[in-house]
Amino acid sequence: MTEQAWTIGRLLSWTADFFAQKNIESPRLAAEVLLSSALHCQRIELYTRFDEVVSEVVRNDFRGLVKRHASGEPVAYLVGQREFYSMSFAVNQHVLIPRPETEHLVSETLDRLPAKSAEPLKVCDVGTGSGAIAVCLAKYLPQAKITAIDISPNALEVARSNAENHRVSERIEFREADLLSQVQGEVFDAIVSNPPYISESEMAAVPDSVKKFEPRQALVGAGADGGQTTRDLIDQALPRLKPGGWFLVETSPMLAPSLKSYLEGQPKWKRCGVVKDSAGHSRVLWAQKQS
Ligand SMILES: C[S@@+](CC[C@H](N)C(=O)[O-])C[C@H]1O[C@@H](n2cnc3c(N)ncnc32)[C@H](O)[C@@H]1O
Repeated sequence: MTEQAWTIGRLLSWTADFFAQKNIESPRLAAEVLLSSALHCQRIELYTRFDEVVSEVVRNDFRGLVKRHASGEPVAYLVGQREFYSMSFAVNQHVLIPRPETEHLVSETLDRLPAKSAEPLKVCDVGTGSGAIAVCLAKYLPQAKITAIDISPNALEVARSNAENHRVSERIEFREADLLSQVQGEVFDAIVSNPPYISESEMAAVPDSVKKFEPRQALVGAGADGGQTTRDLIDQALPRLKPGGWFLVETSPMLAPSLKSYLEGQPKWKRCGVVKDSAGHSRVLWAQKQS
């Protein structure tokens, strides 16, 4: 009896079943992304090549990726990229993998800023990581000048290469700094951030694939509730915003009510609010400075 050949279709079914047995999220999608990476092709191409037999060399590479994913390593790090706001971003272990929730922060920012303006808009992205937010804002606000800050020089290297790949590097200035401490004598139309906001105690419940592989500095916020980094940022942002300027941060549903009260307690903010993500969780905290 001849052995059944390892075609693309068969490899995908086998791997999706294997991942499903290991309770891995989106098993079929993970199998497709890893196989297209091993084959150096677009995921969509797999569908027209189902009956193609996969070479021993490619199968070996694929097997390695499958093993690493089965032991928790995120697909995005294995293939070195992740889609965000329909754009592809290079990622490595020095940067947080951009999350779909953060797309709400980008769209809420775009909703508040004019697409065209007489003066170039000035926007600051604090804790830029892979540069996902800064690059999207630069793409969709062609007149904006962006300052992208991170405390991690390794993250800034990734962000710079993403800005170059998306041809917006001439409008983004990258700075290594602790929050807004190095921003002196400059004011912005908007300050946006997805800061670290998980508390030490919440970290215990975070999945191993996040805890073991994503940078701790990108996840854990200061203070017992994880919200001190955001409160520090609120305090530092106020004097660095133009009158009527916008402040937008991603946060957790647990922190959103107390952070909103914190903003409401400061009269220099004209108004503030919280926007829910597509899962119905409070996610984006926004505030506008008095005019
Ligand atoms: C949650 S990640 C966000 C990354 C990216 N903006 C995104 O949304 O995918 C937080 C980022 O803030 C950076 N960070 C942490 N503490 C910081 C600080 N005190 N000052 C500046 N950046 C900081 C981390 O290095 C990390 O890149």
